Amino acid sequence: MRICTQLTEWRDLRRSPEWLGRSVGFVPTMGALHAGHEALLARARAENDRVVLSLFVNPTQFDNPADLARYPRTLEADIALAKPHVDAVLAPPPAALYPDGYRYRVTENSLGAQLEGAHRPGHFDGVLTVVLKLFNVVQPHRAYFGEKDWQQLQLVRGMVEALLLPVEIVPCATVRDADGLALSSRNRRLSPAARARAAAFPTVLRTSPDPRAAAVALRERGFDVDYVEDREGVRLGAVRVEGVRLIDHVRL
Ligand code: PAF
Repeated sequence: MRICTQLTEWRDLRRSPEWLGRSVGFVPTMGALHAGHEALLARARAENDRVVLSLFVNPTQFDNPADLARYPRTLEADIALAKPHVDAVLAPPPAALYPDGYRYRVTENSLGAQLEGAHRPGHFDGVLTVVLKLFNVVQPHRAYFGEKDWQQLQLVRGMVEALLLPVEIVPCATVRDADGLALSSRNRRLSPAARARAAAFPTVLRTSPDPRAAAVALRERGFDVDYVEDREGVRLGAVRVEGVRLIDHVRL
């Protein structure tokens, strides 16, 4: 497994005989890897000749500097988890991906301003911009995204279609703990009491008759509710528990 912290190093590898002419699967992440990421990596491994993982805490998708500062950075553990699945890890410094200081960016001006976008202004501009940059650098044939970030997945798919990008987006099912809570890098910030309470979030989304009832039931259980909405056969929600923000979706 090669670890590339410089884009030049990665580009040399991508052009080498071991990679040229082979199918390349790509799993973009911000690190703090868990079993959900591992499922993406395993699927990429099964479907491609070569697999590359990116570890990059993307500053432009954080609307709140405190949230960016608190984001877990666990490079050594990430590399250990990824090692059996990947041929290369790309972990560039922010200046390498933002030589323009973020003067140029991708904006989707419909879905991108709703749901998560309404609560985290500029979030999806940051996501789409970094995903486009990573696709340009990595040049993958397939890229793997978790369905947990449902809105992100729709927007990335839309960008690929709109900008005619030569990459196949592969959606992967959400991985959950035994009590139903979707795995997320943020879960590790929950206290034991908050973690126990968080299990009610997907249950309430699934069992409530409509979004209003779900929001009421979540508030009764002590969650701060940012939104619950039904879209295209999917119920989406975002809540905060002890200040930790969780998102999830269930199929209706
Ligand atoms: O889903 C994530 O971890 C991030 O939004 C992504 C796609 C890696 C972009 O920074």
